[in-house]
Amino acid sequence: MLIKTKNISDAKSSEIVQQDFYYNRRKFLTSAAGLGCAALLPALGSPAFGAQKPLKNVQKTAWGDKLQPTTFDAVTTYNNFYEFGTLKSDPSKNAHTLKPHPWTIEVSGHADKTGKFSYGDIIKPHQLEERIYRMRCVEGWSMVIPWVGVPLAKIIKRLEPTSKAKYIAFETLLDRQQMPLQKFPILPWPYVEGLRMDEAMHPLTIMAIGVFGSEMPNQNGAPMRLVVPWKYGFKGIKSIVKISFVEKQPPSTWSVSTPHEYGFYSNVNPEVDHPRWSQKRERLITGEGGFSALFAKKIETKMFNGYAEEVAGLYAGMDLKKNF
Ligand code: MTE
Repeated sequence: MLIKTKNISDAKSSEIVQQDFYYNRRKFLTSAAGLGCAALLPALGSPAFGAQKPLKNVQKTAWGDKLQPTTFDAVTTYNNFYEFGTLKSDPSKNAHTLKPHPWTIEVSGHADKTGKFSYGDIIKPHQLEERIYRMRCVEGWSMVIPWVGVPLAKIIKRLEPTSKAKYIAFETLLDRQQMPLQKFPILPWPYVEGLRMDEAMHPLTIMAIGVFGSEMPNQNGAPMRLVVPWKYGFKGIKSIVKISFVEKQPPSTWSVSTPHEYGFYSNVNPEVDHPRWSQKRERLITGEGGFSALFAKKIETKMFNGYAEEVAGLYAGMDLKKNF
């Protein structure tokens, strides 16, 4: 999966102000007064930020409240979304062709509530929460991202899966007009992923619909994408249109395309090296003073990405070197 990454220019001071805007509105207003409105306009009008609608009534949670989020600019311009290109900078430039509203999700398999659902049937605004999670990419870099989403367990419960549902499978939109790189066999399309039912029901797992208090930018997987913080980022399938409850372990794109490198479980595990590189350390992209992964500070990678206390029990008795 490691495809050549491209350095991204240093964050401008105006872009850093965007984060203040979100995390400290008062501080933002004070600095805005000092800078003058003209200084703010380019930042608020940038394609990544200006288009996103703020989400209302999002419940703050204690998840990650001590963590310092990576800057908005890094989170929304350093992306993997192969349907829009293979460089980190491609999705933010190209994903404008995706139309996230209206959106239909098809639910099938072993559940009482199956069929076609609208976005509003799946995402209930009163269930929105903010969770600040550490995210670790298999390529060896990480970010801290303030997601807005609904615990996946709440969505699953409404769909009433039967006891035959052992796994849940997800599929990304397949549409060559909206996702132009699907015209090329870079990966088997559509992108697919899956979780074991207990992983899907775990309180840490969310269906995210936004970042930094606003609607999900297209490049991050609008209108809804999976977030499983103890697994490598590629489990976080974007722009989901199909959910199915299945009995057998479903395919996942990267383990189908390179099975010796990427397993179904994909738990962050510093003890299991990628065949081509070590997974013991990672570069934490903060976004401050430039956000190329190349120059980011190296830190030790933690088992389950630091969420061992919460999730280790899910894998008790399993050989995690075999089930990587
Ligand atoms: N989902 C789809 N449909 N297509 C992709 O290429 N890339 C995955 C994952 N979800 C991908 C995807 C990978 S490799 C990563 S690291 C994360 O999305 C990146 O999410 P982010 O760009 O929001 O940080």
